[in-house]
Amino acid sequence: MDIRDERIIDGKATAKSIVEEIGEEAEKFSRGKRAPSLRVIILGEDPASRVYVRNKIKTAKKCNIESELLELPDDLEEGELFDIIEDFNSDSGIDGFMVQLPLPAHINENEVIRRISPQKDVDGIHPFNLGMMVEGNPQFIPCTPLGITELLKRYRVRTEGKKAVIIGRSIIVGKPMALILSSKLEQGNATVTVCHSRTPDIEKETREADILVSAVGKPEFITGDMVKEDAVVIDVGVNRVEDTSRKKGYRLAGDVDFQSVLPRVSLITPVPGGVGPMTVAMLMKNTLKAAKMASGS
Ligand code: GUN
Repeated sequence: MDIRDERIIDGKATAKSIVEEIGEEAEKFSRGKRAPSLRVIILGEDPASRVYVRNKIKTAKKCNIESELLELPDDLEEGELFDIIEDFNSDSGIDGFMVQLPLPAHINENEVIRRISPQKDVDGIHPFNLGMMVEGNPQFIPCTPLGITELLKRYRVRTEGKKAVIIGRSIIVGKPMALILSSKLEQGNATVTVCHSRTPDIEKETREADILVSAVGKPEFITGDMVKEDAVVIDVGVNRVEDTSRKKGYRLAGDVDFQSVLPRVSLITPVPGGVGPMTVAMLMKNTLKAAKMASGS
């Protein structure tokens, strides 16, 4: 892969410059008062989730955001997690926090999310914040769709009047992405189709997409023959595929079969180095926003 290929969206470099921008803003914000502060809660030992949360803490530091990771056992009782959320909600020293998903099966994910104060919900997934998006006045937008929106903006992708196809209907990616692209916001005014596991002929839909967002979680699911000529392809998938030739025993693969899709697109995000780093940067952006909201500035 030639990273200088102008069709490849450099999410890593874009995220780096955003992190620098946030770092400067957070430093200014902190003069005379405390730094913006973030808490990340994780339950259990899932290796991929662990990597993600550690990355968030590392990035917070670069952004001059004070952060702490709360690592909890996966057999934690639901009530104990509710108590921690309640404490974080009422702690004026915390501007924003998030609970890494997925959660263990004995915990009701929706109930957890509902208990997070919407003013501290830097993940943007509380029903209040999702409702504000539906209304067209977003407060916090979920980090992955927000990161994709930022990439579309910085790479000057016009969405108005285009046909956008999203694969996946999750609360953290598919649904909010559909809301943004169909909104009247700058990166909106597209005609949006949401595909999922019960869509009978996904290829038929994807072949019509000017903008294709895949968040399906299946390695190399999207092949060249499924993509319209000159489409913009956004790959949200982060799939671990066994690879004994690698030291770790696996490699990261996106939802998109990069080799066969690249020749057809006008723009494409790689995996890794596309959407992933942007998601983390947007968590910092939301945290700075939460801090500013809490301080009334
Ligand atoms: N797990 C994978 N991505 C995310 C995310 O954006 N937010 C949360 N809370 N959990 C995740």
